[in-house]
Amino acid sequence: MIDLAQLLRARAGEQYALYERYVNPQMARVLRTIGFDRPYARAEGCLLFDQEGRDYLDMLSGWGVFNIGRNHPAAIKMITDLLASQSPNLVQMDAPLLAGLLAEALVRHAPAGLEAVHFTNSGTETTEAALKFARYATKRTRLLACRNGYHGLTYGSLSMMGSDFFREGFGPFLPGCHTVPFNDLGALERELAPGNVAAFITEPIQGNGVIIPDRNYLSEAKRLCERHGTLLIVDEIQTGLGRTGTLFACDRRCSRRSITRWTGA
Ligand SMILES: Cc1ncc(COP(=O)(O)O)c(C=O)c1O
Repeated sequence: MIDLAQLLRARAGEQYALYERYVNPQMARVLRTIGFDRPYARAEGCLLFDQEGRDYLDMLSGWGVFNIGRNHPAAIKMITDLLASQSPNLVQMDAPLLAGLLAEALVRHAPAGLEAVHFTNSGTETTEAALKFARYATKRTRLLACRNGYHGLTYGSLSMMGSDFFREGFGPFLPGCHTVPFNDLGALERELAPGNVAAFITEPIQGNGVIIPDRNYLSEAKRLCERHGTLLIVDEIQTGLGRTGTLFACDRRCSRRSITRWTGA
């Protein structure tokens, strides 16, 4: 069996050469050019450490995925406890206890009306699933997103992409996908009015530029969607859990009742 710790020690410092040879030569060159080619050896909380023990404050935080910091002791304990428990993982066909427990906890904290959970492996896969649910449930095909929005890089998500930068060279995309300006309820209503839009997808705060809409944008968009039979998909992948001051970002603008649920006030 491979001794992982020994392997990592023996090959320490080779990461950029290996990445350049086997993964993405251009990325390795870019990192070298901008001076980001540090051979990080360890990470803790918001800090990265190189082989000499110098620390670096990681302001990118994995584009926001390290919400609780890297290698948080509670997360390590949870994962090692699970592995030690020899859980019967990925039994086909089965209804896993852990999935049920996590779904139960999420539903308990989710905004009212969200009563079931569909698990996915990534943000873009979540978008894909939401678009499929929407088309299937409404029997409509048109899909609406916001300009400057970002929902992932697989084909469905890319079809809903609000900027051309990521799309160049990858077309054609899914038919029936359109964009409206972010934070523009008039434009949204005009698109919804024909009654043929399956779903409108938006971020509560646009990650690209950190653009915060008017206070009532999300609640009014919800009202318009309900009036025209369109499903509202709130993409909270970048805003994450608790990053905007409430557990779910869509609750930021909601009633005091739902806000007090998180704070216990
Ligand atoms: C708002 C939003 N939606 C979707 C995604 C896609 O997530 P992933 O990179 O996990 O596919 C991202 C990624 O940054 C995002 O910011």
